[in-house]
Amino acid sequence: MTVIVTGGSRGIGRSVVERLSATGVPVLFTHSASDDEARELEERLGPQVRGVRLDITGDDAPGRLFDLAESLGEVSGLVNNAGITGGIGPFTDLADDDLRRVVEVNLVAPLRLCREAARRWKGRPGRAIVTVSSVAARTGSPGEYVTYAATKAAVETMTVGLAKELAPAVRVNAVSPGFIDTTIHARSGEPGRAFRLAERVPLGRPGAPGEIAEAIVWLLSEQASYVNGAVLEVTGGL
Ligand SMILES: NC(=O)c1ccc[n+]([C@@H]2O[C@H](COP(=O)([O-])OP(=O)(O)OC[C@H]3O[C@@H](n4cnc5c(N)ncnc54)[C@H](OP(=O)(O)O)[C@@H]3O)[C@@H](O)[C@H]2O)c1
Repeated sequence: MTVIVTGGSRGIGRSVVERLSATGVPVLFTHSASDDEARELEERLGPQVRGVRLDITGDDAPGRLFDLAESLGEVSGLVNNAGITGGIGPFTDLADDDLRRVVEVNLVAPLRLCREAARRWKGRPGRAIVTVSSVAARTGSPGEYVTYAATKAAVETMTVGLAKELAPAVRVNAVSPGFIDTTIHARSGEPGRAFRLAERVPLGRPGAPGEIAEAIVWLLSEQASYVNGAVLEVTGGL
C-alpha cells in the first residue's frame, strides 16, 4: 500500500518518508525545487521511495500524483505536508501574489488532493489522510504571518468536515506542530525562529522533525484505527 507525502524532500516530510520507508511502505513524495535532497533520499532508501518534482498547486497535480503513486502500488494514504509561510512581517506588507500563493499551497492544494483521494477511494475502505496544520491556527501569528495561520485553521476545519463525510472508508486527521527546527524558518526570513521562540515552550526546546513525523505515521497506521477527525497537537505543551 503506497503513501503519498507532499513536501518530502526536507523537514517534517522528509522524516515521514524515512519512517514510512523503514516500515516497508512504498512512498511517493513531492518537492518543488530541491532535486539534490530528493535524489539523496531516493538513493538512500531504495526503489520503494520515489520523489517527483511537482508543484502541488498545478492544475494537473492531483491527478498526476495519484497516477504516479498508483504505479508503485495501491494508494492507501495521503499526507498533506507541504506548506509555506510567506515572508515574515506585518500583514499590511503582504503583496497580493504572496498572499495568494500561501493560500494556494497550504489550502487549495490540500483540498484538491483530498478530493482526488476521495474520488479514487470510493468504495475502498481502510484509507487515511493526515494534514499538517500548525499551532498558528489558534494563535493567529500576529505580526508574523496571519495569512499562513488562517490557512492552517482552514485545513483543520477541512479535516473535521472530511472526517465525517468520508467515513467509514477514510479516516481523516491532522497534526498541529509547534516550533520545529526545519528550513521553513529560513525561507520565511528568520532561520533561528524556532530557537528564539523555544523559551515559550514548556518543554524548553524546539521540536525535531522526527517528533512530528512519529505522530503522522501513527495516525496513518492501523494503531490509530478509531481516531478520526482529530487534530493532534505536538507542540511541547504550548
Ligand atoms: N517547522 C515548523 O516550525 C512548523 C510548525 C508548524 C507547522 N509546520 C508545517 O509543517 C509542514 C512542513 O513544514 P517544514 O517545516 O518541514 O517545511 P520545509 O522544511 O520548508 O519543507 C517543506 C517541504 O515542502 C515542499 N514544498 C513546498 N512547496 C511545495 C509545492 N508548491 N509543491 C510541492 N512541494 C512543495 C518543499 O520542497 P522544496 O524544498 O523543493 O520547495 C519541502 O520538501 C508545513 O505544512 C508547515 O506549515 C511547520
